Amino acid sequence: MSHELTVLGIESSCDDTAAAILRTRSDSAQVASSVVFGQTEVHAPYGGVVPELAARAHVEKLDLAVTEALNRAEMQLADIDLIAVTAGPGLIGGVLSGVMLAKGLSVSTGIPFIGVNHLAGHALTPRFTDDFVFPYLMLLVSGGHCQFLRVDGAEAFVRLGGTIDDAPGEAFDKTARLLGLPQPGGPEVESAAKAGDPTRYTFPRPLLDRAGCDMSFSGLKTALLRARDAIVADKGGMTSQDRADLCAGFQASIVDVLIEKSHRALANCPEVTGFAVAGGVAANQAVRAGLEALAMASNVPFAAPPLKFCTDNAAVIAWAGAEAYRAGQRSDLGLSARPRWPLDQTAPALLGSGKKGAKA
Ligand code: KG4
Ligand code: ZN
Repeated sequence: MSHELTVLGIESSCDDTAAAILRTRSDSAQVASSVVFGQTEVHAPYGGVVPELAARAHVEKLDLAVTEALNRAEMQLADIDLIAVTAGPGLIGGVLSGVMLAKGLSVSTGIPFIGVNHLAGHALTPRFTDDFVFPYLMLLVSGGHCQFLRVDGAEAFVRLGGTIDDAPGEAFDKTARLLGLPQPGGPEVESAAKAGDPTRYTFPRPLLDRAGCDMSFSGLKTALLRARDAIVADKGGMTSQDRADLCAGFQASIVDVLIEKSHRALANCPEVTGFAVAGGVAANQAVRAGLEALAMASNVPFAAPPLKFCTDNAAVIAWAGAEAYRAGQRSDLGLSARPRWPLDQTAPALLGSGKKGAKA
């Protein structure tokens, strides 16, 4: 068995300030602590993440998150072998705050540090939560990202396709806003959809007619807006049943697109040993159930890691850092914070950039 590496992970690329400590071996990990300070109240009045406010909140909370992670793990910095920090992609002010903290800690203690791609953190999660072995297929689906990756190694990713505009979480959030539901919109829309009839309103299934695994979700909100306005024009307002039916129709459209495109991604890479999903939208039961049923029908093991490791957190950054470190990667003080950092450098550049920053 490989030797143990105790890793401090630091994450601050969007609106969660996180620190975690993982005891890792090459094929397993034990989470000693995982601390996440969210910023929901900071951004609530603005209906979306405000980058400057996010950066300030990270600066205020990052060292507290690290101290809390050490306390919960009953450890001190002297117990840490490696510091892994998100170095991109994300909102640059937040990423910079984390990178500067990691550099400062490293210089003052002599502990080596390594810059981690946030998306690699998500993509490698099933390696320690579900013992996945390479190569496997990953659908990363959150408020800022939506892409299919074939994960061939800790630093080898092939992007098979992704959204060309909004991410599904963003579409859920916009739908909630249009229907007067609170943010974040995903859980609200899902809960309203439970009482709804998904067949009353049929929304578009964009790009299903186009080959490949690319997706588009920005047109959905326009369709939803029209349907909402037609109801209001007709009756002078919306009943809760109308709202539930709109949510159910919208969710059915997202689920259909994700399932069909996942089907194509699986067909494109028969060599994969499993299919995993990560990101906040993976919390959605209809999405999870649809993807799991597809994997079963395709005879491929399926993993949806526990939600706390699906959404933004620092444990997955620590794990990705450990994998890269074991593969010989090191960072030095020249490490830059990167707003954009595609995992697959050979994939064509994407269009657009969402409310939560660049979709790399
Ligand atoms: O991964 P995450 O915590 O943050 C990033 O976007 O990086 O994902 C948050 C997104 C939000 O857009 C939220 O509305 C969505 O995930 N989400 C959901 C559900 N829970 C969270 N979307 C659909 N159904 C849910 N149950
Ligand atoms: Zn994320």
